[in-house]
Amino acid sequence: MKKTLLVTGGCGFIGVNFVRLVLATRDDLHVINLDKLTYAGNLQSLADVEDHPDYTFVRGDICDDALIGDLFERHNIQAVVHFAAESHVDRSITGPDAFVRTNVFGTFTLLENARKYWLEHGRGNDESRFLHVSTDEVYGSLGKTGYFTEETPYDPRSPYSASKASSDHFARAYFHTYGLPVLITNCSNNYGPYQFPEKLIPLVLNNALAGKPLPVYGDGGNIRDWLYVQDHCEAILRVLDQGRVGQSYNIGGHNEKTNLEVVEKLCDMVDKRVGLLNNRPRRELITFVADRPGHDRRYAIDASKIDQELGWRPKFTFDQGMEKTVDWYLKNRSWSESVMDGSYQDYYETMYGKGK
Ligand code: NAD
Ligand code: DAU
Repeated sequence: MKKTLLVTGGCGFIGVNFVRLVLATRDDLHVINLDKLTYAGNLQSLADVEDHPDYTFVRGDICDDALIGDLFERHNIQAVVHFAAESHVDRSITGPDAFVRTNVFGTFTLLENARKYWLEHGRGNDESRFLHVSTDEVYGSLGKTGYFTEETPYDPRSPYSASKASSDHFARAYFHTYGLPVLITNCSNNYGPYQFPEKLIPLVLNNALAGKPLPVYGDGGNIRDWLYVQDHCEAILRVLDQGRVGQSYNIGGHNEKTNLEVVEKLCDMVDKRVGLLNNRPRRELITFVADRPGHDRRYAIDASKIDQELGWRPKFTFDQGMEKTVDWYLKNRSWSESVMDGSYQDYYETMYGKGK
């Protein structure tokens, strides 16, 4: 008997990679992918798995209480991996409302429906799990030394991280108050295929290919801990299968890089693959621009808990992950083009028709 797994936000960057991994490696799970298809959702990214017998797509909003309740009942959902969120820090600075709505109220709506179905109606079992996917940004900003552990106090500093921190608190509260089998993961910066090109790596790649300026915020010295998306997805499955309920697990890549290092590396990789741009190295396109307000200086994850308890550690070095990423974007330029010209948003109407 297959277990039905509700994946929220499965048409976003990490969700697409996760749904693909589950369908490729697990025959004990049926995936229901619930996604609103905001600007960040790209149904086309899953076009080749659409007819997979263990996959069902539902367009909908995680804030829609009636829809979520109906999904739990109709599909007897016993596991949730909750990715759906507004995820871009810059957008949270110019328009925080959607972040509060989706990240806080949407997470609450999912938790509440899981509680009602599994606990109040008695339809859960020992294997029911609610995995809330969160971020290292809830811990704030590090100085030159130190790492985020699961015990680091929360100190969110952007509307995005404040909304994620709030959702983490709700998830944890549902474990302590109701005994809901909640797990939380806090992950560092992901990179890899299918990432929306507003984020640093795909944005720089696309601009470098087009010969456009490469915007680096502030002095380029901010540090992120980069993790290849496949490693993150494997970690999530490990936590879902073997994690202890009520626990948080930090997930990181052991790859601290300044933004300038990342951008320079991308320039050199593109030069090497497609040749110089008018005989000039692409590093000349780097343009220092105004800093992000409240820009966190450094993130770095101590991932020893998930390593020691669950035996997970990243498989890909930064060099290996970057090779795979740059190659993927070069081979799939039509994917980036359809995102940049907006035509990816026509796919739902074309495939599912109006009113569906
Ligand atoms: P993304 O922005 O690429 O995708 C988000 C997805 O959620 C989209 O498909 C969008 O359509 C969907 N969505 C948004 N609002 C919705 C709503 N109200 N109802 C239903 N669906 C909705 O995000 P991502 O980068 O894939 O991140 C996924 C999750 O992982 C997020 O919760 C994010 O906070 C977390 N996270 C991301 C990173 C990273 O580096 N990208 C790192 C750590 C944690
Ligand atoms: O740490 C995990 C987080 O990583 C996730 O929770 C977020 O959802 C995800 O978006 C990501 O947040 P960042 O803000 O770190 O990612 P972003 O790609 O937007 O920026 C990475 C770094 O690069 C950051 O220090 C800002 C800088 N930057 C970004 C852009 C878009 C630039 O210098 N220039 C740019 O044009």
